[in-house]
Amino acid sequence: MRLIGMSGLLLPALAFTQVLQPLAIPPLLDMDTFDLVVDDHVHQFFPGVNTTTYGVNGVVLGPTLVLHSGSMAHIRLHNELPVWTNMHWHGLHISGEADGAPPRQINPGETWAVDFPVMNAAATFWYHPHPHMMTMDHVNKGLAGFIIVRDDAEAALQLPRTYGVDDFPIVVQDRNFLPSGDFASGPYGDTVLVNGTPNAYVEMPAQIVRLRLLNGSNARIFRLGFDDGHAFHVIGSDGGLLNGPVEVDRMTVSNGERYEVLLDLSGMEGDSLLLMSFGSELTPTMPGAFNPTWEPSILNGVDFPVLRIRVTAPTTEPVTTIPNTLTHVELPDLADVSRTRWKSFSGFGTPGSGMFMINDLMFDLDVINDTVLLGATERWVVENATDMAHVFHIHGGSFYVLQRNGQPPPEWERGAKDVIMTDMADNVEFIMEFNDYVSDGWPYMYHCHNLVHEDGMMMLQYIVVDPNTHVAPVPDDETMTVFPSPFTSSFTFQTDFAVREVRLNDMLGRTVLRQPMDGRTRGVIDALTLPAGPYVLRLKGDDRTVQRVVVRE
Ligand code: C2O
Ligand code: CU
Repeated sequence: MRLIGMSGLLLPALAFTQVLQPLAIPPLLDMDTFDLVVDDHVHQFFPGVNTTTYGVNGVVLGPTLVLHSGSMAHIRLHNELPVWTNMHWHGLHISGEADGAPPRQINPGETWAVDFPVMNAAATFWYHPHPHMMTMDHVNKGLAGFIIVRDDAEAALQLPRTYGVDDFPIVVQDRNFLPSGDFASGPYGDTVLVNGTPNAYVEMPAQIVRLRLLNGSNARIFRLGFDDGHAFHVIGSDGGLLNGPVEVDRMTVSNGERYEVLLDLSGMEGDSLLLMSFGSELTPTMPGAFNPTWEPSILNGVDFPVLRIRVTAPTTEPVTTIPNTLTHVELPDLADVSRTRWKSFSGFGTPGSGMFMINDLMFDLDVINDTVLLGATERWVVENATDMAHVFHIHGGSFYVLQRNGQPPPEWERGAKDVIMTDMADNVEFIMEFNDYVSDGWPYMYHCHNLVHEDGMMMLQYIVVDPNTHVAPVPDDETMTVFPSPFTSSFTFQTDFAVREVRLNDMLGRTVLRQPMDGRTRGVIDALTLPAGPYVLRLKGDDRTVQRVVVRE
């Protein structure tokens, strides 16, 4: 094991990290109406070092919001930042209008009031801003918080749930500090923050404790485990409890993913242990591994401590056993699947730069990529056609993994999920129901949750329409064919709708070719004079536009 982190051998700037700091536990709010104020602050993560931060009701991160399944949530979000932002309730099954994704925009000084029924089961969710192309910047500066949904079924189980006592929110993030003290924004950081605390320690009682693990980092994937090899039990995934606890000694947690785990500290009073990230065990294609072609980071490819746990006396009514069964996970019926969609991570590049696409398409706020019928059960196949891991996240609700590379998913991926990691060449299939909300004015996003990639256009959007009232034909994002690909002097497009205009944009968005069309569905475009490189080909019809990347050799 290569262990680094808080040793004095690192950058001199990290020397002050040697002082252990008590883990911050975000305040817990359980109320009818949440008043959240987003503002900028100056915070000292290290004594004497001023860092400009963004925070929700505080200097960094935000309070933990408790929501109750089956009741209404009311949130008033007030933006005191000098820039516009928004707020996304990651993982909640809510309307596109309430979802807080692009194109929601809350200007400086404005308040966004949002109300929604809580329809998810008990689980750990989170909130973070989602302003297009600025998500990483806003999250990096400190905007994120936990949401804990509670329900009766979970409340009936003998599980630790005393917040901050035997039930701990744990958001792991890596950050880079500039010499000025401010955060640098980028894929990797060399300082680990847990709940916004560097070099954190926490006291936990000598009994069964519950950790709600969240990877809130920009790009880094964590492989969490304990320095002493301590096993632990996974009890919940992104959107709910598992059927039963799953014993593991490592958990790979990708960006935006949550796992609830139970850790048995019985009889360990006076001991301490380290929650570690075993970066040396990541595959070389996962951000956080050592990869010589990627942006360097001293934490890449090595094992480093995340959180020191000091075990104290047990509480008066400790939880001492782990329940054998937790819930009954019910998958939507395969026989109800009305449509399969293929989504392929595509593009090339490094975590810091490159081209990041889904189905060779880049995000365009004006283009709806998928139209889903209300009430539909669909199967989505996500494949990774790139040379690095990507993290698929879909808005609108939870899905259930059917298979991973042709095999049943590992047991900890058999609960409700909204984030799924795909390594290079992986193929993952999930089933999802699109119930309750027609959402055609406010689309739902799906994207890579590596924030560099998300901001770099690896995001598409879908709407949900009512099949009884929706009159326009339901477009299909897989209707455009282009050949040859790549092309040299000319290419042919083929589609199934009347094309009115063909346009080629270069990667800076400049139009380099624009040709009106007479409504034909197939055509040959002469592109002999274009310099070699990638272009975005856009076919415009009467009621839709489709686009994809083409490459001139
Ligand atoms: Cu956690 Cu689309 O986001
Ligand atoms: Cu990605």
